[in-house]
Amino acid sequence: MASRRETPLMRGGSGGQPLSRGSRIAAAVVVGVALGCLCAFFYPDGFFSRAPESAIHWPRRADSVACDTSREVAHLKSQLLSLEKKNAEFRKQVNELSMKLQLAGQGKNEVLYKAGPFGTVKALRTNPTVTPDLSINPRLAQILEQVAVKKELIVALANSNVKEMLEMWFTNIKRVGISNYLVVALDDSIENFCKSNDVPVYRRDPDDGVDNIGKTGGNHAVSGLKFRVLREFLQLGYSVLLSDIDIIFFQDPFDYLYRDSDVESMSDGHNNMTAYGFNDVFDEPSMGWARYAHTMRVWVYNSGFFFIRPTIPSIELLDRVAGRLSREPKSWDQAVFNEELFFPSHPGYEGLHASKRTMDIYLFMNSKVLFKTVRKDVHLRKLKPVIVHLNYHPDKSDRMKAVIEFYVNGKQNALEHFPDGSE
Ligand SMILES: *[C@@H]1O[C@H](CO)[C@@H](O)[C@H](O)[C@H]1NC(C)=O
Repeated sequence: MASRRETPLMRGGSGGQPLSRGSRIAAAVVVGVALGCLCAFFYPDGFFSRAPESAIHWPRRADSVACDTSREVAHLKSQLLSLEKKNAEFRKQVNELSMKLQLAGQGKNEVLYKAGPFGTVKALRTNPTVTPDLSINPRLAQILEQVAVKKELIVALANSNVKEMLEMWFTNIKRVGISNYLVVALDDSIENFCKSNDVPVYRRDPDDGVDNIGKTGGNHAVSGLKFRVLREFLQLGYSVLLSDIDIIFFQDPFDYLYRDSDVESMSDGHNNMTAYGFNDVFDEPSMGWARYAHTMRVWVYNSGFFFIRPTIPSIELLDRVAGRLSREPKSWDQAVFNEELFFPSHPGYEGLHASKRTMDIYLFMNSKVLFKTVRKDVHLRKLKPVIVHLNYHPDKSDRMKAVIEFYVNGKQNALEHFPDGSE
């Protein structure tokens, strides 16, 4: 900076003959002092009136050489201030207009309710179902007409990679006597396998983007697919109990649903706190008096087993998850599913307004609950779950067989030789 500042002074002095070094310095000092005096005379309080709204604080400068630059800066600064003021003005106008717009829109379709007395007020959580649109897929509509009971059914997606587990899945469903279930076959082999086993099956019409994932995809890819496939079921007016196939049914799940929320899901939690939510206090000692920050925590919903009602928020959820999975190919469908369900609206983001319910962790049991807690507890061992999901364990087949031995055949020691987690 210093060297740059010298330049105009030197140029000014080099109009005629070059000055000697001594006189150049003297001239610079004289000009500097003169400018300093002028500045001090005209701006006794400095250049910047300190506007209270100004976020930037400028140090007072004593050195008079900075005068020129400071004047420029002062000018820019005042321009900036006035632009900021204008900007704030516009922002206020935009806010006011959008609020007016919102109010105008609300008045149109809104039914006005009167709040009842203390303790009697209850908000809507059971959203109205959509009007069924049979034209979007008449073939599926016909299948659902036959398979569903009270417009509800279990749906699973499967390709050949999981044939053995699929067989265990439908064998147990049949044993319980559940009739309203449907396999969405992702390849010929599974379609034929279902047909030959008298299992209700639906093969989607060819759709390149979806079919490639369906035929060759691993676990996670197929999981993402279901959010697209389910949309048509909801549009047709059906409630779907989506089930992965590493799940064993011991009772009819439709006897244990509440049906009061858009999404009713099993949890990855392993006890009441983690599954149903708790206040997790975060400690930051350096904050002293305010060292404790309270946070809300809940273990994620398991996107491999949830009941979803045919409502607008439900369909919006499917669309949002499917959209994000296609835009963010590395994302995990279960994480996305939960983020969309739980993150509230905030600046720049509009959250989903869907109602949700966590299923009972002992009736809709994940394999961590079973192997870590239930099998070791004399009381909990006696409970009969509706389903068990082998979501926490990679040795699925072996554990599934043992779980069936335990709950169906009453073999009391069937679960004992497994470690709590994988080893
Ligand atoms: C967990 O929650 C259930 C249902 O709310 C309750 O009956 C049970 O006593 C709770 N268990 C514990 C250990 O708090």
